Amino acid sequence: MSDQENEKKTDKSSQQSMWGGRFGAGPSAVMQEINASIGFDKRLYGEDIAGSMAHADMLASTGIITAEDRDAIHAGLEQVRAEIEAGAFTYDPALEDIHMHIESRLREIVGDAGARLHTARSRNDQVATDFRLWCRGAIERFDELYAAFISTLLDVADTHADTIMPGFTHLQTAQPVTLGHHIMAYVEMAMRDRARLMDCRGRLNESPLGAAALAGTGFAIDRHQTAEALGFDAPMNNSLDAVSSRDFALELLATLSIAATHLSRLADEIVLWATPAFGFLTLSDSFSTGSSIMPQKRNPDAAELIRAKVGRISGAMNGLMMVMKGLPLAYSKDMQEDKEPVFKAVDDFELCLVAMTGMMADFRPNPAAMRAAAGQGFSTATDLADWLVRELKMPFRDAHHVTGAIVKLAEGENCDLADLTLDQMQSIEPKITSAIFDVLSVEASVASRTSFGGTAPENVRAQISAARKKLDDLEKLSVTES
Ligand code: ARG
Repeated sequence: MSDQENEKKTDKSSQQSMWGGRFGAGPSAVMQEINASIGFDKRLYGEDIAGSMAHADMLASTGIITAEDRDAIHAGLEQVRAEIEAGAFTYDPALEDIHMHIESRLREIVGDAGARLHTARSRNDQVATDFRLWCRGAIERFDELYAAFISTLLDVADTHADTIMPGFTHLQTAQPVTLGHHIMAYVEMAMRDRARLMDCRGRLNESPLGAAALAGTGFAIDRHQTAEALGFDAPMNNSLDAVSSRDFALELLATLSIAATHLSRLADEIVLWATPAFGFLTLSDSFSTGSSIMPQKRNPDAAELIRAKVGRISGAMNGLMMVMKGLPLAYSKDMQEDKEPVFKAVDDFELCLVAMTGMMADFRPNPAAMRAAAGQGFSTATDLADWLVRELKMPFRDAHHVTGAIVKLAEGENCDLADLTLDQMQSIEPKITSAIFDVLSVEASVASRTSFGGTAPENVRAQISAARKKLDDLEKLSVTES
């Protein structure tokens, strides 16, 4: 913007009727530019209209406005909604935000009744109310998306309850596990993320409306009525807290950041497994792209982007933390900066969750490659040590040492543990018998791990049915609640 434009004063007429009573001239163009939030908060129109309708109903039922005014306000707000949804609404940066836009248009449509709507209300409690409603809506969408995601993961886990793959620690082959077990780990994470979102919903679901600018109001309003009408559990107890707290938004961003790290880890494994060096899975055409120079390439772009998005989502959380840090009570305009990070993080996360669900529905593992890799790297060495403990009553530390020597021998011979002869094993520990060979296969290893939460296929199947039941119970709960 040029200096000349900077100094240019804007037409004061739009604000005149909202707050311009004591002002001589309108704000400078740059003031208007930094002040306006309409560019992003227009997304709150539905929540703003719902809040205004509940407020108007309450003003009428407490006798603060007449029933005629209430009806006019309702009809006017419906018209505003229709105009916005038809793309026929005119936005004007001079009107700052969505609240002033809707109210100003309402006054054009219904006159004085519209000018009475702002009685016993401030934009401070209004925006806090709208934003809570918006976040609640996002959480409810995520809840449904999680149900689909978890159910997709469960199908994959079910199909692959017996598919053997290497389990890793330090990304080094550790012990064989099943693919079903591995996927069920993500089901556990997803179920916690879903529950965390619902916890967040529980805490945010209180109504700021009626806190007015900061101190409450002298009008005999009924905050319980508006809270109930908007589906809140209760009005917030403290008017200062009601207008100035954004921990609900921070909590949502923190929850999404955690959930995004889980998606990111799964995405990373897809990237890794799809590389020919691993060869554990083939990417479907729908979720990969080609290279413009290397014709053989199939790139896991969707997985890579999901892996990356957590950066933006947790960045949004950190950004809002910095906005809120050190702000005095009650409202400050700083808080207008709460919306963009939340909108962006919610959009990003939604895209990640939908894309990941699609990728898992299209999941094409290569069991032969997984099985072959599971047998490499002496992955049943722990089973060998456990056998020495069980059968020869050797203390585990000694068994660990003996096993280490056997692994070293196999390494020298360039063969797997199961390929060593009994004589070779006995050269290290004479008491070893041929029964040792029963525990050296990856199948035996996996089948033996029946401890609660372990990888044995029968365990994994039990975990899958328990998770399906939990998912169904949650589904029934949401059906009866709605
Ligand atoms: N657009 C503002 C926001 O998002 C609404 C509240 C403005 N309040 C005020 N006192 N200027 O925070």
